Amino acid sequence: MEEKNILELERRFQEKIDKEIKIEPNDWMPENYRKTLIRQISQHAHSEIVGMLPEGNWITRAPNLRRKAVLLAKVQDEAGHGLYLYSAAETLGADREETIDDLHSGKAKYSSIFNYPTLTWADMGTIGWLVDGAAIMNQVPLCRCSYGPYARAMVRVCKEESFHQRQGFEIVAKLANGTPEQKAMAQDSLNRFWWPALMMFGPNDDSSPNSALSLKWKIKRSTNDELRQTFIDVTVKQAEMVGLTLPDKDLKWNEERQSYDFGEIDWSEFYEVVKGNGPCNKDRVDARRKAKEDGAWVREAAMAHAEKRKLKTA
Ligand SMILES: [Fe+2]
Ligand SMILES: [Fe+2]
Repeated sequence: MEEKNILELERRFQEKIDKEIKIEPNDWMPENYRKTLIRQISQHAHSEIVGMLPEGNWITRAPNLRRKAVLLAKVQDEAGHGLYLYSAAETLGADREETIDDLHSGKAKYSSIFNYPTLTWADMGTIGWLVDGAAIMNQVPLCRCSYGPYARAMVRVCKEESFHQRQGFEIVAKLANGTPEQKAMAQDSLNRFWWPALMMFGPNDDSSPNSALSLKWKIKRSTNDELRQTFIDVTVKQAEMVGLTLPDKDLKWNEERQSYDFGEIDWSEFYEVVKGNGPCNKDRVDARRKAKEDGAWVREAAMAHAEKRKLKTA
């Protein structure tokens, strides 16, 4: 295509975005927009699916039937989120099989938070409260993402995330108001998950090179640091409500900014986990690979059945 034509297409594309008109699968889009979205949506899908593992670990050990039913429903929701998102990536031309193979080979990333172990029941509370809470902060702006299928998937996902956050906070509140042992368990869990939860928003803005373009294209609506700050401001009050302490001695209200100042995040830990050296990276990917192998016969049977039906109707 002539260069002039591409410039004109790009101009029209940006004009649509500036007018808040959604981009749909068959519309023209810059190759880099497509690539950025495929990467972001598939990483998001992988995070939903891998995110089932740390909590799945506790379904059989939930303390009572109500907790078990709630946790089971929550983990199933995450599977549903993964499926919407893999489908959204397919509307951009991504191949589902390849997308999943990229997760298994380590080529594709998923949220670093799921590489930490779940050691106690309190972790089910903390994960819902902080991890799903951080996910909401990230995902609510995505409901207005310029790419239609992604934005629409997020509307439903966010409603479910809100239930996830509340079920987690309810567990934490119960433990924090329970026996001294229960309160200590909740505090220990918060100590372990606080910093990794802050890392979920990604690197600081000055080390996040793709952000500017994502903002211009309205894939993102806020920067990593803005979202992290909002999350901290909301969570400090919630921790106070249940009488738990956030493990940051530098956390302090800043009157001028009307926001909390907070301590330095250990970015070397973040990059180590992203590189594959977190406490559970290997277990997580092994579990997903095994699930694919164990489920192969189901996919083969479904394909054989579809083939037979096609012959019958032909
Ligand atoms: Fe989710
Ligand atoms: Fe969730």
